Amino acid sequence: MLSKKMLKALNKQIQEELYSGYLYLAMSAYLSDQNLNGFATWMRMQAREEDSHAMKIYQYIIEHNGQPLVPELQKPPRDFKGAADIFKQALDHERHITACINDLVDLAQKEKDKATESFLQWFVDEQVEEENQVVEVIKQLNIVKDDGPGLWMLDQEMGQRTFTPLPGIENRMV
Ligand code: FEO
Repeated sequence: MLSKKMLKALNKQIQEELYSGYLYLAMSAYLSDQNLNGFATWMRMQAREEDSHAMKIYQYIIEHNGQPLVPELQKPPRDFKGAADIFKQALDHERHITACINDLVDLAQKEKDKATESFLQWFVDEQVEEENQVVEVIKQLNIVKDDGPGLWMLDQEMGQRTFTPLPGIENRMV
């Protein structure tokens, strides 16, 4: 049984994860418009991952006899200043999400909710990966800078990313 505070905080995290997906989809749309189709694919796969993070929490709430809330989402930005700007913003955003997850773990500990604390460990580990993968892209973008052929090759590589559904988690996005 989830406490009222824990349920409210988990529902807030659904909103954070869905907004992350929205933000990355907006970034993908911008990248497509810039003809950076590989980067756009990478961001679209990231948007789908965020959707499955939201659905993982959604399903957890149901399994614990709570009601997940389908939140109102803020409109994401549509204008960016190139791929480097986008990935810097994505890193800032992931750091914000890591802070949200850490706050949730603190709350689970305060509420003595061992099940939720254990459930959240997956997200703690996932955030390390989420931040690292964006840092890797930033490093590669720093190497190629304004080099056209280098950016083209990196774009090709980024376009190889695929989406692997989380076991047992339904996805809304296709
Ligand atoms: Fe679900 Fe990228 O944090």
